[in-house]
Parts: sequence; structure tokens; C-alpha cells
Amino acid sequence: MVRPVVRWAVSIAATAASTYALDAVATVAGFGLVALGLLDGAGRLWLSALLVASYAAWGWGLSSGLRANWRLLAETGTSTNVLSKAAYDLTRRRTAGVRASRVAAAAGYAGTELAKEAPYYAGAFGAALVSDSVTADRALIFLIGANLGAAFYEYGLAGLTNAVLRRRRGGYASFEADWIPAEYLSGYYRTVDPDEIATIAFLVAALRRAERDRPVLFFGVGPTLHHVFAAAEVASEIHLGDYLPANLAEIRRWLDRAPGAHDWRPFVRYTLRCEGNPDPTDEDVAAREELTRTKVTALLRVDGRDPRPVDREYATVVSAYCADSATADRGTWAAFMRHITGLVRPGGLFVTAALRRCRGYTVGGKVFPGADVDEHDLRAVLGTGFDVPGGSIEVVPMVRWAPHGYAGIVLCEARRHALKVAVTT
Ligand SMILES: C[S@@+](CC[C@H](N)C(=O)[O-])C[C@H]1O[C@@H](n2cnc3c(N)ncnc32)[C@H](O)[C@@H]1O
Repeated sequence: MVRPVVRWAVSIAATAASTYALDAVATVAGFGLVALGLLDGAGRLWLSALLVASYAAWGWGLSSGLRANWRLLAETGTSTNVLSKAAYDLTRRRTAGVRASRVAAAAGYAGTELAKEAPYYAGAFGAALVSDSVTADRALIFLIGANLGAAFYEYGLAGLTNAVLRRRRGGYASFEADWIPAEYLSGYYRTVDPDEIATIAFLVAALRRAERDRPVLFFGVGPTLHHVFAAAEVASEIHLGDYLPANLAEIRRWLDRAPGAHDWRPFVRYTLRCEGNPDPTDEDVAAREELTRTKVTALLRVDGRDPRPVDREYATVVSAYCADSATADRGTWAAFMRHITGLVRPGGLFVTAALRRCRGYTVGGKVFPGADVDEHDLRAVLGTGFDVPGGSIEVVPMVRWAPHGYAGIVLCEARRHALKVAVTT
């Protein structure tokens, strides 16, 4: 992971470079327009109208710049504007909300750009006041040119930033900038589809072998709760971890019974059926929802790239469709898996699910990365640290799901080796 000091160093260097570049482009454009003489004799009214139009162009360039700067901050923690980075970092430290940090980052960026306008005004009109050879009309023409140059520069910088980020992600959508919890929930969790029929049944069976009355961690839970209901009876507490604050906020809405929170009742009903209740009543479903609300005691921001994503171990860790659905790089997937399984204490249970041989899945029309892994990769990554007896890995074909980007799932239950105690006589 990139250290904060490196992100600051990169941001300071990028800010200096982009400030000089913007100055150069805007100044050359301003003087260029004056020198070309295209607007000589246009009259004050026309020049004023053109100045307004040049501000509109500049605003358009700036809005592209704001969007690109937000992506850059969200995906890399760096910016081409240090004030924007400072505002972003500060807001993120104080609130989990994405909107607040986005507004703060935009205010820092736009504020600096506006402040950079002042020297142009001072220069242009100052020169008009003190020099006979610079008329007010020429000052206006200079400003029009400078604004157009700045618009062109902002738009170009945004294009360059987006291209670098796209390349860095291998063409996939970005979790930080493109993931919308509501799109994921409406695309995948309106009804209990075949992949979840298999996953929840597998999870219920696996959790029968979990140690009772211990905290259970769900790693990479997204904005979802459909797997969590299965742990409510066995767990003393439930900790839910995800990378995106927006996902955790969606879960918080359900816990708080906020209006419009996702309706998980079909999944609760199906979980109860898997547990052996052939015909769960509405009261049974409500009781499990309530039990789950009381058991969820922590919402944790986790990052699978961090070698120690949570500062403790668990007797049971569940991580479904996280590592395999967070990266397209198999090496990164393997590192994620090591970090997640490192949270299972010796003798503890690890339950996982992955999209099988999936290179990308669609959410809201955007393609998110898949690690293209299968049951063999899973067995290999669990390797020496875990027991994965025959029958504890299931492959379930999902032919109808191919348009989503995957045609099967892999379900796996593994037990971490207990510590070997040296016996001395
Ligand atoms: C396809 S969703 C799965 C969500 C949920 N487990 C489910 O079954 O629907 C993939 C999840 O991986 C999470 N993710 C992406 N990058 C991550 C990272 N670096 N560390 C941890 N989780 C990450 C995303 O926030 C998202 O919630």
C-alpha cells in the first residue's frame, strides 16, 4: 500500500506542475488572442458577451476537472490540487459519508482555481490603467483568451487523469468512484436467485460447525445482509466489514429501519427454511431480523490489500464474493485471500464463495473486475494453513447467469489448523 507521505509528496509535485502548466497555457492563450487581432474593433458589448461565454467554457472545463479530481482522490488518495486533498482527507477523518468528502474536495479545487483568476484580472486591468498601449478592450480580449486556455487545460488534464486511472484499473469500473450500492441491490437482490439459493444453503450448513457464542466477522459484506441472517443464532456478536463507507451506510440504514432501506425479508425467509423451518411465518422472519439487529455490534471499514485489515482474530470468518470480485489481478486476489484468512484464529472456521472463472460482472451497466479463479485456485491459496476436506468445496453451475459475467460459483468451507503445542517431558 502507498504510504500517506508518498501521496502527499505526489500531490504537492502534481499541484506545482499543474499550476505552472495552467499559468503557461492561460497566459499564452491570452496574449495569443490579443496578438492575433481577431477581436480588434469588436466593441465593448461583444467583448463582454464573449467574456461571459469564455467563463461558461471555463466552467465546463472545471466541472470535468472536478470529476476527474474526485476519481483521483477516491482511487489513489492523491490530487493535482493539495488544498483539495487536504479538504478531502480532513473530511474523511471526521465523517464516513462520501458526499461530504466529495463536496469538500470540490470546494478546495474550485476555490483554488477561482483564486488563480485574480492575478489575471489584476494583471490585465492593472496594465490597462497604467499603460496607454493597453486598452480596456485589449484587457478584455486577454481575459477571454486566458479563460479559453484555462478551459482547454482543465479539460485536457481531466482527460489525462481519467486515462491514467482507466489504465491503472485495466479498463474496469472503480469501486471508489463508480460503485452505487442501490444499483447493486436492485440488480442482484430483489429476489432470491439461484446463486443465493445455493450460497445461503451452503452457509447455513457450514455455520452449524462454527463455534457458538463467539463473534463472527463478515468480510467484504457490501451493502448486503442476506448472508448475515444465517449467523444470528450462532454468533455472540456480528462484525460487518467492507471497503466502501457507502456500503456500510446502506447497512446502517437497514439496522436503523430507515425508510427505503433494502427489504431482506425474502432472504430471511429462505434462510429459515434452510435451517429447517418449512414454512416460516411473518413473525418468524421479523424475529430473525430483530435478532440480527441486536447481534450486529460493529461496522468496520476494511481493506483487503492491508496485510492486517482488522486488529483481531475471529473463530469464524465469512467472506463471500469479495476477494474474487474486487480485483482482476490473480496475484492481488491471492494476497487478499491471505489477509482475510489471516483473521481466522487457529482451529477457526472460514467460509467463502467466489464467482467461478469470472473476469468481470456488471452492476448498473458498469463492469467491475473478476479475478478469474476457480476451485483449484481456492484450494491452492488455502494451501498449507487450512484443512479443506473433500466435499467442502462445491462448484455450482449457473448457466443462465452468464450475461452477468459468470457461469458458476464456488463455495468453500475450510478449517484453520490448530496450533501445534510442543509437548515436553
Ligand atoms: C460483489 S461485492 C460483494 C458484496 C457481498 N459480499 C455480496 O455477496 O453481495 C464486492 C465487494 O468487495 C468490496 N471491495 C472492493 N475492494 C475491496 C478492498 N480493497 N477491500 C475489501 N473489500 C473490497 C466492495 O466494496 C464490494 O462490497
